Amino acid sequence: EKIRLLEMKSEIAAGTRGSSMGIDALRIASLNKKSNYFLRYPLQKIADRNDLLWADNPTPFGIRIEGLVEVYQNVCDSVSRTLINEEFPIVLSADHGSAGGTIAGIKKAFPDKTLGVIWIDAHGDLHSPYTSPTGNMHGMPLATALGVDNEECKVNDVKEVTLQKWNELKSIGGINPKITPDNLVFFGVRDTESPEDFLMDKYGIKNFTVAETRGKGIEHAVKEALSMLTNCDILYVSFDVDSMDPDEVSYGTGTPVKDGYRPDEVKEMIKLIIQSKKVVAFEIVEINPTLDNKCNKMAETAFKILEETTRVIEENK
Ligand code: ARG
Ligand code: MN
Ligand code: MN
Ligand code: MN
Repeated sequence: EKIRLLEMKSEIAAGTRGSSMGIDALRIASLNKKSNYFLRYPLQKIADRNDLLWADNPTPFGIRIEGLVEVYQNVCDSVSRTLINEEFPIVLSADHGSAGGTIAGIKKAFPDKTLGVIWIDAHGDLHSPYTSPTGNMHGMPLATALGVDNEECKVNDVKEVTLQKWNELKSIGGINPKITPDNLVFFGVRDTESPEDFLMDKYGIKNFTVAETRGKGIEHAVKEALSMLTNCDILYVSFDVDSMDPDEVSYGTGTPVKDGYRPDEVKEMIKLIIQSKKVVAFEIVEINPTLDNKCNKMAETAFKILEETTRVIEENK
């Protein structure tokens, strides 16, 4: 099975500018190491809607949501085509907003398989337009995959046009919901808002905190996570770099949160997850070199993890 690198530069779902440069920052990190990684794995580009960054925003609780519908569709098509070709997609994305499109693409390729998601992130990304504190769509991809609106926790007065686009987002790929809450496992989530906490409690979504992961040991924690997902036929791993500790790595990400993982911890975690053989797609998101306080350290760190993860995928597929 061949690996295919997909490049999604959409940063329209983030609240700070610059994550669209994250993928170029990875390439620079690779060149500086004299690695031939991007020669060996050429990037296949997926069209974004970053032109909307200059436009007015008519939907405050779902900022640029109309553009994200297109982004979801484009990512969904590329990911599903890759999988149907029996290739392994590694998606390099700018912000996390497009990850719902990745999940849509996996489900479109494998409609009859039960999909599990391992989400390595400081954030729950479980908001809907009704509950988002910012209106930034990168805080919402998992809610689109789960098909939850969380209207019980409504705090925003959302326009009809926003809700219409929200429903379109949930239906991309033709299947809604795409995952169930018992088939979602978090690692490292430590910055949530109360509507997200409500959902995590309501559905019993498992979060391995940084402390719990360390207490049990990475190997044991991953084993436990995988045992919670034994009913899944296939798995998707989504790696938001803000899961890592900004003081250990750098502040080169849009929404850094202290007390995260060390790079060696996430690298080991991802390796052990991929060795389970059920993983069909992997994604890295939220590298923002314009915010990096240590030059290009976030991308350099992420590139090492990408290289190692790619090696483990090659070894296990
Ligand atoms: N919960 C916050 C919000 O909705 C932060 C989300 C950050 N998400 C991310 N993928 N970095 O705005
Ligand atoms: Mn995220
Ligand atoms: Mn995050
Ligand atoms: Mn917060």
